[in-house]
Amino acid sequence: MAGSIKTVGIIGAGQMGSGIAHVCALAGYDVLIHDQSAEQIEKALATVNGNMARQVSHGKLEEAQRVKGMSRIRPAMRMEDLSGVDLAIEAATEDETVKRKIFAQLCPNLNPEAILATNTSSISITRLAATTDRPERFIGIHFMNPVPVMHLVELIRGIATENITFETAREFVASLDKTITVSEDFPAFIVNRILLPMINEAIYVLYEGVGSVDAIDTAMKLGANHPMGPLQLADFIGLDTCLSIMQVLYDGLADSKYRPCPLLVKYVEAGWLGRKAGRGFYDYRGEHPVPTR
Ligand code: CAA
Ligand code: NAD
Repeated sequence: MAGSIKTVGIIGAGQMGSGIAHVCALAGYDVLIHDQSAEQIEKALATVNGNMARQVSHGKLEEAQRVKGMSRIRPAMRMEDLSGVDLAIEAATEDETVKRKIFAQLCPNLNPEAILATNTSSISITRLAATTDRPERFIGIHFMNPVPVMHLVELIRGIATENITFETAREFVASLDKTITVSEDFPAFIVNRILLPMINEAIYVLYEGVGSVDAIDTAMKLGANHPMGPLQLADFIGLDTCLSIMQVLYDGLADSKYRPCPLLVKYVEAGWLGRKAGRGFYDYRGEHPVPTR
């Protein structure tokens, strides 16, 4: 465990919040998880339990570790319940307005010494930090999805982030047994600056009729050895998140090469947000995913 950090608060109990809770609890941290939706918190606890149980059945975890890990994760129904945490990690929807609102509500409740981190995929750390009462204790800790499986975490300093904050974050991430890569604070950092234009291009390839969903994903899986096709991966990330990241790249770098594909916009407008919504480039409601185009 990282010296000064004992308790971690997580805001946003979606795919990422649950994954972060999972790895923190197994590393020995006490975890409090908050969401605007109580149902989402319940779902997150069930997801973590299911994923830990699968790790047990695959021999990656002892049953006693699962029990201990689960006992360390507690729901935080109100933002005020996070007042005692040493590190708060914001992992809510990729929308700057949502994140700013959370920080405005969270900061007055937070211990003044606590570090505040965001798991944003793309938004300026400096700009988010400037909306808080602690820009020097604010940092980007960017986990990859699925958190329990992916080895990388990007660390991003804002302009005001103090060295002690960075070093504490580095120690914390190392204690989770993840590898760190440091990115400067530019739109979408390193992984998503490279990955999302590739996914967006795959959606253009579909939009222009060059290939079907199946043809595109098969091509990239077998032709480039990617573990998932780009459309399957877009569904896995969440199409709302993909669109937000492209919008941040487009606005932040002012280059037309980042324009979000209109077909991506259409899927998001339909509420077909990918796996988490049951439908995206594939329909997940049956036994096997079926391409929607
Ligand atoms: N949560 C927890 N564990 C999961 C999981 C999930 N959602 N999905 C799969 N796993 C685990 C499985 O339980 C399995 O564990 P065991 O080895 O103990 O059996 C392991 O991962 C491998 O899973 P599978 O054998 O079922 O499936 P797979 O071999 O197809 O691997 C995958 C699944 C690891 C997700 C793989 O398909 C993959 O690497 N996909 C690409 C993921 C990727 O690119 N992530 C980055 C997205 S971008 C991002 O995160 C940044 C952003 O800001 C958008
Ligand atoms: P998600 O849609 O699965 O979950 C978002 C959660 O935030 C939901 O449970 C929602 O109820 C909650 N939320 C929204 N507004 C809130 C508020 N005001 N207060 C409390 N909770 C609120 O999204 P996700 O995929 O978990 O992504 C979360 C963050 O992690 C985003 O910033 C995203 O860019 C980033 N991220 C996502 C991925 C990915 O592959 N999905 C990877 C790395 C980072």
